[in-house]
Amino acid sequence: MTKILGLSGSLRRASFNSGLLRAAAELAPDGVEIIIGSIAGVPLYDGDDEAANGTPTAVATLNAQLAGADGLLLVTPEYNNGIPGTFKNAIDWMSRGDGLRLFKGKPVAVTGASPGNFGTTLAQTHWLQVLRTLNMRPWWDGRLMVSRAGDLFDADGNLTDQATRKRLAEFVAGFATSIG
Ligand code: FNR
Repeated sequence: MTKILGLSGSLRRASFNSGLLRAAAELAPDGVEIIIGSIAGVPLYDGDDEAANGTPTAVATLNAQLAGADGLLLVTPEYNNGIPGTFKNAIDWMSRGDGLRLFKGKPVAVTGASPGNFGTTLAQTHWLQVLRTLNMRPWWDGRLMVSRAGDLFDADGNLTDQATRKRLAEFVAGFATSIG
């Protein structure tokens, strides 16, 4: 069984990106499991808090999930043409101390959804410098930018557009195959 930790960078109830991640988990091929983690409850990084109290519970949970995963799938919103601070804050916390070694050499794929025309292209590109610093292994063979998300998801953020579901299934299968 290939295990992939999936993280959405949105806390919004009807988030397109969380819906995209749920759909990815549903569409994962046989032998592949996408475990849906959550950045909810991760506090803003504060070095004094870290020194006094160590790793927050929500971060320790994410790190344990990453330790047990063969790959990481980041499903990113785009804010002001970049990575949402909430999402990067969670990864920053996870990379502290012993957490850093969990990222090294781990396969990672990035996708994302936005209501605009460009489907998180710039946020996905923005992630690359972070992933390089974490010594991860980005998967380059497929790209999935989900644009015009308002037409593709229902009011609860479920991905209902069949053509996008097919593209997503191919994306997930390609990434999983590359992990082996
Ligand atoms: C956005 N949004 C946005 N969208 C985009 O395609 N490019 C962008 O640069 C931005 N910038 C931006 C900044 C801020 C502060 C917010 C709150 C939003 C719109 C964004 O794509 C939209 O809110 C999505 O619905 C966010 O993803 P979720 O929450 O649906 O997963």
